[in-house]
Amino acid sequence: MKITFLGHASLQIQIGNKYLIVDPFISGNPKASHVDINGLKADYILVTHAHQDHILDVEAMAKRTGAVIISNFEIVSFYQEKNIEGHPMNHGGSWEFDFGRVKYVNAIHTSSFPDGSYGGQPGGFVIEGERKNIYIAGDTALTYDMKLIPLQTKLDLAILPIGDNFTMGIDDAIIASDFIECDKILGYHFDTFGYIEINHDEAKRKFFDKDKDLMLLEIGESIEL
Ligand code: NI
Ligand code: MN
Repeated sequence: MKITFLGHASLQIQIGNKYLIVDPFISGNPKASHVDINGLKADYILVTHAHQDHILDVEAMAKRTGAVIISNFEIVSFYQEKNIEGHPMNHGGSWEFDFGRVKYVNAIHTSSFPDGSYGGQPGGFVIEGERKNIYIAGDTALTYDMKLIPLQTKLDLAILPIGDNFTMGIDDAIIASDFIECDKILGYHFDTFGYIEINHDEAKRKFFDKDKDLMLLEIGESIEL
């Protein structure tokens, strides 16, 4: 499994020969201007919720690649009306895709589309693929529901928002790491705009002091699991 950080909450995940894009917000992110958005491969686009900073490039990318959207029922329905293929899910449900198993899990946040229309309830994804298991939290507060995840899945990596203000900050992400029983964390949803700028050294040190590893990738950088 190869995970590439595309800035903000955008990721590309390669599992075997399949490519997943998560929450594409690239064309609107000046910090990601070096990412070749039209060169990105996508078989699936996973969308955690309907906010602009998670869906901006969904439609164009789906139309270019023919990727199938995986999200909650309301978001998938929104794109199906634009003749984009989707696989609707809802909280607590799992499905076996050709790259692995996906569960749509709770997030505490909101989920309106940019025009104000209803985007369902926000979520995150637990992905079990290629003998590696990851959790993509989406935009969320720290929540006790996170404790449910390790009852079923032993995580190899968790991708958690750490920018504070709109989501968890560093201190809550450390508690989340305990709840999900995963000490290897990739931080996202930070630094993109003023409200969510963080001190990288301080964030890493706080995790290190709890015997945890916080990775912060440069935009375009990848890790292999
Ligand atoms: Ni959001
Ligand atoms: Mn967001």
